[in-house]
Amino acid sequence: MFLISDRSGRFSLLKSCCLALLLAPALWLGWRAVNHDLGPLAIKQALHVTGTWAVRFLLVALALTPLQRLFRWPKLALIRRMLGVGAFCWAAAHLLLYVASQNYDLAHVASEIISRYYLAIGFAALTGLALLAATSTDGMISRMGAWWKRLHRVVYVIAALAILHFFMQSKIDASEATLMAGLFLTLMIYRLAIWCRLPMGAVVLAGVALAGAAATALAEFAWYGLATGANPWRVLGANLHTGQGLRPAVQVLLVTAAVVLIAEIWRRLPARSGSASGQRAPRRA
Ligand code: HEM
Repeated sequence: MFLISDRSGRFSLLKSCCLALLLAPALWLGWRAVNHDLGPLAIKQALHVTGTWAVRFLLVALALTPLQRLFRWPKLALIRRMLGVGAFCWAAAHLLLYVASQNYDLAHVASEIISRYYLAIGFAALTGLALLAATSTDGMISRMGAWWKRLHRVVYVIAALAILHFFMQSKIDASEATLMAGLFLTLMIYRLAIWCRLPMGAVVLAGVALAGAAATALAEFAWYGLATGANPWRVLGANLHTGQGLRPAVQVLLVTAAVVLIAEIWRRLPARSGSASGQRAPRRA
């Protein structure tokens, strides 16, 4: 029951929604598996799905602090641990599927992880996530004191490693890896703005959104230029054409702008007691 109740033991709608969000892709994957809808390479397909959701949930966990500030909604902190541990569970399922894809030959799995860079990087990210999940209990938090916060800053390195692993296994199309990298870079730029004590008004937030989009385009340019044979200038130029669908840099810009706009509207809504908005912190000047 602790998964859907708050610290006082009362039912928490927020935690329940978060749990449903964490489980929904697993139910969908299970449904597709039962109905033989995963294609001839079902385990490989499931490996891709679990890896992708691990990165997505990790990024949502990292986005919680900025969202908490933007929406002035401190209760969002309730689901941070859940999302982090959830991301770890998805990554652990991902490793299990990899082991299954290698016919449970653990010696072979170990030698592959040692000999392939992208697997070694994934392993480092998974080890880090396991360490953070293991130290996420209330007991460990109070026992570790100030060290807990220091240790848990490693989550940014873990996310960077996971995204690098994502890029390295992407074949011709690195769009989703670029999108994840772009969202991660935007979060880092936001943190940098906070660290520089910039006033987080509309102008700075618009600047963060634009810088995040530019960083995404540059990350994509660098990846195609350094790691593939593709012409990076053509990839960069594609951001200016709408005919090929929305490029990752544009998606990052739209997502960030939408979040900032919704947060602005949310903050202007009158606070109602008992509702989620009624639990928001008082507006700061
Ligand atoms: C021991 C640890 C890990 C192993 C052995 C591993 C292995 C793999 C393999 C074999 C693939 C597919 C490669 C292909 O299709 O050729 C893959 C893809 C991927 N992995 Fe991992 N991985 C590990 C850890 C992680 C972690 C910790 C994350 C994220 C937090 C992650 C995220 C991903 C993602 C996002 C993909 C790409 C999915 C897609 O293409 O849609 N992996 N991994």
